[in-house]
Amino acid sequence: MSKSSSQTKKLPVAGFFVGIGFLITAGALLATGSSVDIPLVDKPMVRAEQIVPGAFRVALTDPPIVNLGTYDQRCNDCHSLFKNERPDDRALTQHTNITLSHGNNDACLNCHDKDNREKLTLRGGKTVGYDHVEKLCAECHGPIYRDWQSGAHGKTIGYWNTDLGEAVKLKCSECHDPHHPAYAPMAPLPGPNTLRMGDQHSGHGELIDSRNPLQRWRLLEEGSTSHDAGHGGDH
Ligand code: HEC
Ligand code: HEC
Ligand code: HEC
Ligand code: HEC
Repeated sequence: MSKSSSQTKKLPVAGFFVGIGFLITAGALLATGSSVDIPLVDKPMVRAEQIVPGAFRVALTDPPIVNLGTYDQRCNDCHSLFKNERPDDRALTQHTNITLSHGNNDACLNCHDKDNREKLTLRGGKTVGYDHVEKLCAECHGPIYRDWQSGAHGKTIGYWNTDLGEAVKLKCSECHDPHHPAYAPMAPLPGPNTLRMGDQHSGHGELIDSRNPLQRWRLLEEGSTSHDAGHGGDH
């Protein structure tokens, strides 16, 4: 007889005792448990427009078209008519809606091509269309650009299985405004409303406030907001 077959013989015996233990525990719980009335909490409200999965902003494509108050025009409808010799040297009379807030990157022609406003400028005199804005950003934000290429920065929407449809990687300018690329502060969506989340402690073992629906109910029952009964340890 091998060692393993003698072990398998013991198993049904162990199973019998576990079964008995389970029945005793269940019986005890049924006999002593009092029924409680736990109030339901409101579902957190989320506005649908807060969770739109697509682009954060509408970016220009190639060729870029802008509506400057009156009608849609291409940059060169105007920019082919005149040439600014020292374009960054004075306050602008046109495009006054644009305020640059991009760190040291504070000159229009760091990004816009000096000869053709319908292109973005790259190092070494090369240019790129507005539909490949990431090539421009990559000139100064190499690490983030590589993160974006690999999918660690930004967002890809569409299909995993590209036989079914396109996978679309959002462009830098579909999230960041190139003129002031930092995000404005956003209001957070409500947190999850599960039973054990959202407890807050004073740092002295006291429960000061709670979004946990069970805790709220318990505090109501006790008419107290400041103690920590049945709660193992702080932090
Ligand atoms: C309605 C005409 C008009 C259109 C359309 C227009 N611009 Fe301009 N833009 C101007 C004028 C005029 C100035 C110069 C203002 C000044 O000198 O005070 C200017 C200035 C600029 C400058 C600052 C550098 C410079 O040359 O003075 C940039 C950069 C620029 N435009 C980019 C663009 C881009 C990009 C587009 C298209 C997406 C565009 N503009 C479309 C009229 C236009
Ligand atoms: C960091 C690079 C960068 C700098 C610096 C920059 N731009 Fe732009 N600009 C862009 C890009 C990229 C777009 C396309 C934006 C989009 O797709 O929404 C753009 C769009 C524009 C447009 C067309 C859209 C609009 O908002 O009217 C104008 C006009 C323009 N820039 C003018 C200027 C002027 C004038 C300056 C200097 C005061 C300037 N830009 C500085 C990158 C830059
Ligand atoms: C010519 C170089 C240059 C180019 C091109 C450039 N940036 Fe920047 N960017 C900078 C500099 C410089 C800073 C400021 C870094 C700092 O102050 O720490 C910056 C800062 C940023 C920040 C952080 C802003 C903040 O305040 O937290 C973002 C986001 C950003 N850039 C996005 C972009 C995007 C998107 C593009 C392409 C449309 C772009 N940048 C193109 C030079 C550049
Ligand atoms: C899906 C939206 C999205 C896309 C696409 C995207 N970013 Fe961002 N990026 C963000 C957010 C969100 C932050 C954090 C914003 C903040 O803290 O203000 C950020 C932060 C940054 C920063 C600041 C990083 C830091 O450490 O402070 C830079 C620079 C930047 N992005 C550049 C880029 C460039 C370049 C591209 C394109 C190659 C790009 N982003 C594409 C959403 C995006």
